[in-house]
Amino acid sequence: MKIKEKWSLPNLKEAARRTRSAVERVDQFYIPANALDLGEGKTYAISTYGCQANERDSETIAGILETIGFRPADDLEHVDLIIINTCAIRQNAEEKVLGEIGNFKRLYRNNKNLVIGVCGCMAQEDAFVHLVLEKYPQVRLLFGTHNIQDLPVMLYDVMVNHEKVVQVYSKEGEVYENLPVKRFGQHKAWVNIMYGCDKFCTYCIVPYTRGKQRSRTMDEILKEVQELKDAGYKEVTLLGQNVNAYGKDLDEGIDFATLLEETAKIGIPRIRFMTSHPWDFTNEMVDVIAQYDNIMPFIHLPVQSGDDEILRRMGRRYSAESYLKLYKKIMDTIPNAAVSTDIIVGFPNESDEAFEHTLELVRQCQFDNAFTFIYSPRLGTPAARMEDDIDMDTKRERLYRLNEEWNRHALKKNKAYVGKTVTVLVDGASKNNQNVFAGHTDTNKLVNFTGTNVRAGDFVEVLITDAKTFSLDGKAVEL
Ligand code: SAH
Ligand code: SF4
Ligand code: F3S
Repeated sequence: MKIKEKWSLPNLKEAARRTRSAVERVDQFYIPANALDLGEGKTYAISTYGCQANERDSETIAGILETIGFRPADDLEHVDLIIINTCAIRQNAEEKVLGEIGNFKRLYRNNKNLVIGVCGCMAQEDAFVHLVLEKYPQVRLLFGTHNIQDLPVMLYDVMVNHEKVVQVYSKEGEVYENLPVKRFGQHKAWVNIMYGCDKFCTYCIVPYTRGKQRSRTMDEILKEVQELKDAGYKEVTLLGQNVNAYGKDLDEGIDFATLLEETAKIGIPRIRFMTSHPWDFTNEMVDVIAQYDNIMPFIHLPVQSGDDEILRRMGRRYSAESYLKLYKKIMDTIPNAAVSTDIIVGFPNESDEAFEHTLELVRQCQFDNAFTFIYSPRLGTPAARMEDDIDMDTKRERLYRLNEEWNRHALKKNKAYVGKTVTVLVDGASKNNQNVFAGHTDTNKLVNFTGTNVRAGDFVEVLITDAKTFSLDGKAVEL
């Protein structure tokens, strides 16, 4: 494949650079006149992988596409534009994406005008972009996480000039305000409070794919939350790879505790936030969460490992003991708090004993929920240069034992809800039965319940009648 001069290809090494240069803040969204109605009469579909940052990016992509005339497709057989927003966090996430790109080959064969675009975190990886250019000619547009705002221009080049476009910048990144957004949810919304990450945990690709930590100003965030409240939204989730570090890169002396408190004062019924890194979790944050009823008592607090040596090699900068101390502080201060976590097994050098330390930590914390992963080396990260010395059978066995352990505690925690009445924000009705609904408690428990006259977006009091590992069952308390 000949590389065109016009293309911008990613470079993971450059992406790791951090300078002291100020973050550029861009308020204007620009669409060239000739692209204003580019999508008129055309349809689009977006396929999103990965975390909430990607979900929120897809809402921006949809917003931009609809601004230039595209409409959502009902039918993939006749769609004009497919965008695949990818995730690079683990090898299996990447494999799923490659499978999907492969599947779209057939659609492209039947419709040579179909534009298939690939964006997101995988597009920031040199090896992936080269692979796509070599092996997947049906992909006509590749753009990175820093290039979304240029979508109208890129699409013009693809659709009108019939060029293949590759535009992936590997840079620290800007903060764009006022980009169009099409929210996918009607009652719950994502609100970015910061972009990027500077933590460089040794296993993790995110600081390379998302650039440096850039906080939005508090004014912009509060304005967005106010607008969402005025539009009738019931819940916002403040998003960042590490929300606790919010504001450290601003000159304003504002931290996450202040932002949380100001957001709470707006009075939107439910505020969530994720993800919290244990390293930056202050006592002030714990106190603010405890103080305001509309800040949900649910904290996603990834621990990754319960072994100090592994934590050190992961670059997490806390010990099992300090994590436990923070956990205890949260549980003692915030009434009815629930904590979930992320754990990686099979990190290089993880001995049986080290893994036992993780199990021990899980026993002590009794997490409400956990996301558990087998370590996956990511090219370009420091851990990928360590010997991946744990064999796959051992990794699988550890994952199995870990899941057994946390499932046991989660079930026990859920059983404690039986007989209690909880407030549920309703997501919607079950597809199969119009009198069965699903929603979440303040502690983020999924509740399936029966009731009448219930609508999505309602707050409903539900009596819990049964508990499973991953959900609760109940019935609406009729008033
Ligand atoms: N910013 C968040 C994590 C985002 S990635 C935080 O710091 O907590 C979500 C989770 O994916 C991580 O918490 C980690 O458990 C897992 N993960 C990240 N890189 C991984 C890798 N290379 N292999 C396996 N799991 C990984
Ligand atoms: Fe990755 Fe660590 Fe940043 Fe989370 S804090 S995104 S795990 S580097
Ligand atoms: Fe995946 Fe990128 Fe999120 S790698 S987890 S989509 S930041």
